[in-house]
Amino acid sequence: MPDLRQRCLTGKPGDDKAPADALVLFGAMGDLAHKKIFPALYHMVRHGHLDVPVIGIARGGRTESDLKERVRDSIQKLDGSFDQQALAKLLELLRYVGGDYGKPETFDLLKKTLGSASRPAHYLAIPPSLFTSVVQSLAKSNCIDSNARVIVEKPFGHDLASAQQLNAALHAVLPESRIFRIDHYLGKEAVLNLLFFRFANSFLEPIWNRNYIQSVQITMAEKFGIEGRGKFYDDTGAIRDVVENHMLQVVAFLAMEAPTGLHCDAIRDEQAKIFRTIPPLDPKHLVRGQFKGYTDEKGVGSDSTVETFAAVRLEIQSWRWAGVPFLIRAGKCLPVTTTEVLVKLRKPPLDNLAGESGNHFRFRLGPGELAISLSARVKRPGEELVSMPAQLSAVEERTADEVDAYERLLGDAMLGDAMLFVREDAVEAAWAIVEPILANATTPHPYAPGSWGPPEADRLAMDVGGWHNPEE
Ligand code: BG6
Repeated sequence: MPDLRQRCLTGKPGDDKAPADALVLFGAMGDLAHKKIFPALYHMVRHGHLDVPVIGIARGGRTESDLKERVRDSIQKLDGSFDQQALAKLLELLRYVGGDYGKPETFDLLKKTLGSASRPAHYLAIPPSLFTSVVQSLAKSNCIDSNARVIVEKPFGHDLASAQQLNAALHAVLPESRIFRIDHYLGKEAVLNLLFFRFANSFLEPIWNRNYIQSVQITMAEKFGIEGRGKFYDDTGAIRDVVENHMLQVVAFLAMEAPTGLHCDAIRDEQAKIFRTIPPLDPKHLVRGQFKGYTDEKGVGSDSTVETFAAVRLEIQSWRWAGVPFLIRAGKCLPVTTTEVLVKLRKPPLDNLAGESGNHFRFRLGPGELAISLSARVKRPGEELVSMPAQLSAVEERTADEVDAYERLLGDAMLGDAMLFVREDAVEAAWAIVEPILANATTPHPYAPGSWGPPEADRLAMDVGGWHNPEE
């Protein structure tokens, strides 16, 4: 199969597609940079994909050597073999600009530090409330000229109206083709594999519809809590943090029609189309939960009603999917850390052959190995004519050299390939789906850490045989 990325880059002529010649990282001393971005940059250097200046920006009071120390610390914490040379090279590429994001001097200094770079990629790894003012300051100081790109992190807005405002503010200074909205789930090997499994095999398509599929459920379970991100999380909650973005993207990959070609927007058109066929969620189809002890966390309001668990049931009003329930469940402090999709097929008509359960596909999206399995039924050995389940599994261990989501996405953004980034219409359509369930006026159901969330969520999955609890 041809590499979609190659097609994407040659799809449209013009400077938009020339590689960036500098990477500017806002929020360089932040958590995201430390956990995800520096490791991605280090791997890009290791793989020969990064050889331009990286300018880290952080609020004042720090120095270039503080930044380098932070990078070193991030890389030394990584698993796998350590490449001293790659780290040294990354440190060599690093520059530092300190200053207040609200002051023009910071941006003047950035402009100076950019030197002759004419196609910088500005990565805003900062709170969304700062996006607009930072982008405007970049434009005023001529750091965004005709070839610059902006990469923004999720959450993209807080609701539909703020996402629209943000889109308008970004479009005031640069066109959509130079805006890269990151949802790191779109860069994950296992998530991309959903597309390949669906569209690179001819056996699946005839049954991948309402005639054969009974229900689809996705569980994103995390054993850990909010890990010191109290302030962020209490402003966000599970629906905004992972349902509106990561989980809906997985739904889109599971449910979309085959992309009509190999140009950059082929996949993004189908994503947006799926989101538009999902009606806004009915609050009756939502169960919110909060783990006991959440309100004692630093940065969390003592009377917070923010959810750390959300279960929703949605439908897709399309010829392919009408009537098939799609269930999503995501939560912190659950028994395991695993994201898994379960696609249940309708039972065959002969009960005595099919037994209690029918067939299902299971896709393990992470962490760790990438697994797809089909639960089929075969004859149980022996005299009796009865069936039993058998698993047909494809499991791939992750290799140390596997491309991590952030490495893939940053590399794509630097190259100018927007295929795996969320387009304006898709981001707004996704917000429109969750809009009716964003108000957290009701008290969430409490649940014990280490449990599968509040039992109230069971009612959403009652008619599809209950929730499937993945194993670690
Ligand atoms: C982030 C959320 O976007 O995704 C986190 O803010 C969540 O709360 C994380 O833990 C999960 O990502 P992954 O790749 O570990 O599944």
